[in-house]
Amino acid sequence: MDQAQDQDQAQDQPVCAVAPSAEAWLVPMLHESLDSVCQIEREVYPHPWSRANFSDVISYGYHARMLQSGPQIMGYFVAMAGFEEVHLLNMTLATPFRQQGWARVMLDALQVWARAQGAHTLWLEVRQSNLRAQKVYQANGFQAISERRDYYPADNGQREHAIVMSRSLMSGDTV
Ligand SMILES: CC(C)(COP(=O)(O)OP(=O)(O)OC[C@H]1O[C@@H](n2cnc3c(N)ncnc32)[C@H](O)[C@@H]1OP(=O)(O)O)[C@@H](O)C(=O)NCCC(=O)NCCS
Repeated sequence: MDQAQDQDQAQDQPVCAVAPSAEAWLVPMLHESLDSVCQIEREVYPHPWSRANFSDVISYGYHARMLQSGPQIMGYFVAMAGFEEVHLLNMTLATPFRQQGWARVMLDALQVWARAQGAHTLWLEVRQSNLRAQKVYQANGFQAISERRDYYPADNGQREHAIVMSRSLMSGDTV
């Protein structure tokens, strides 16, 4: 499927029909959206992805989707498909949209897409200190598998370990 078809289909579908408190859509992340995306990214993370990081993932054709309500970008995720697996590289909600179930909406959409790619497993890394995100991932069927030492940059030139989490997408392993 080419990118234009992909965009048309995504924009036609109210993929968040089960949205908890408002109507929202998952739409492809485009280069034109990156001012807003990078603003959220900088507000949320002490060590944010750069505009070039986002630009690259769009250019590479990674699965980059924004959760949007009207003109408001509420959050986004970026995932990369590999052989029988999908790696979640970034998932972020702007602060006003947290604790309302939107992360589950994005993770549900991700697993539907990942299954369509033939993935058997979803993978992600999360900072060891990010207990909030770890709890959300656990509630959505992910399990901590291992640790990557010194994976993330941290303050004062330090590094922080990553917790590697995975979720099986094989039938019978549903949440
Ligand atoms: C990680 C992140 C995306 C999770 O988002 P979230 O809003 O906390 O998670 P959810 O959307 O699943 O919300 C679940 C919470 O909302 C509550 N909630 C309220 N209304 C709800 C509804 N209608 N449906 C579902 N949950 C609802 C749930 O009870 C749950 O609270 P609890 O965990 O205290 O029990 C978000 O915290 C974030 O962007 N953090 C900063 C960036 C980050 O750390 N990203 C991950 C990097 S690996």
